[in-house]
Amino acid sequence: MTTQIRAIAPALIALVACLALSACSGGGGEGEHASDSEHAAATSSSAGLPAGHVSAGEQLASTKGEATGQSCVDCHGSEGNAPIDATYPKLGGQYADYIGHALQQYRNGQRDHALMSSQARNLTDQQIADLAAYFSSRDSQLRDLHGVH
Ligand code: HEC
Repeated sequence: MTTQIRAIAPALIALVACLALSACSGGGGEGEHASDSEHAAATSSSAGLPAGHVSAGEQLASTKGEATGQSCVDCHGSEGNAPIDATYPKLGGQYADYIGHALQQYRNGQRDHALMSSQARNLTDQQIADLAAYFSSRDSQLRDLHGVH
């Protein structure tokens, strides 16, 4: 009995080590894969934009554009939540993808508005992503324009 155990002990150790190793590398591999896809989920956008950065977006939101001399918050208000005109949309808490799509469409002409198109015309994908990240991270006071004239 004892001899038998002694005989199989090295084999068991080898087996355990082998399982541990394969569990490690298998688990590690899957872990990496999982975090890769999480990363992709967190950073990819249906608008095909790169990952956005809230702090860069915050800065950009109050930077006057060269073409217009106006910044986003000049019209959409502080944090996108205090538009200077009741008919201007609030942006705070809006889905980042929605903001991204809207800005891309103003930029490429699919969506056209006398005031807004020129605001988006010179934005890069990264700037759009940053602005979308910033405004979507603010409190939401979204409302529709029913009854607003
Ligand atoms: C001169 C005023 C003005 C400035 C400056 C301005 N916007 Fe706008 N924005 C508007 C108006 C007005 C609309 C509504 C246009 C329409 O009906 O298509 C609008 C619409 C939008 C929309 C679409 C919102 C929705 O609910 O569909 C987004 C997103 C947006 N603006 C983001 C920005 C960003 C980001 C900036 C800064 C780069 C900016 N705006 C600067 C006036 C402005």
